[in-house]
Amino acid sequence: MADHEILSQYIERYNRMFADESPKNMREEIDGIKLIINQKVVDHFAYEEEHIFPGLLQAIPSKEVSDAVSILRKEHVSLLKQAKRLNEMLSNQNPDGNCTGELRKAMLDFLANLERHAAKENELFPSLM
Ligand SMILES: [Fe+2]
Ligand SMILES: [Fe+2]
Repeated sequence: MADHEILSQYIERYNRMFADESPKNMREEIDGIKLIINQKVVDHFAYEEEHIFPGLLQAIPSKEVSDAVSILRKEHVSLLKQAKRLNEMLSNQNPDGNCTGELRKAMLDFLANLERHAAKENELFPSLM
């Protein structure tokens, strides 16, 4: 899925950035990071829920697929909650200060969860093509 490739490029980039104890380009990147969290991820989830999941359920009406889709939907809810919290942390970040350990950990955590989620979908979606 093309969207996933784009997301995974961001995941890689921000993983690298936040792997650093005190990420150097964070201040310059912060608007971009917020855009990804607040818009790209939100739009992507909405697209899947409106188009991909219903298409998948229609193409393969099995219990296995419907169970998988309901897990993916739940993951969207929890990822969005995590994104909301991250967004607040990013907004409260002192622009001159260093990245706090808490923000760093939350960011890495979110990226890892997002990556796991997309990998699950990548296994499920090809059955649609
Ligand atoms: Fe998803
Ligand atoms: Fe996805």
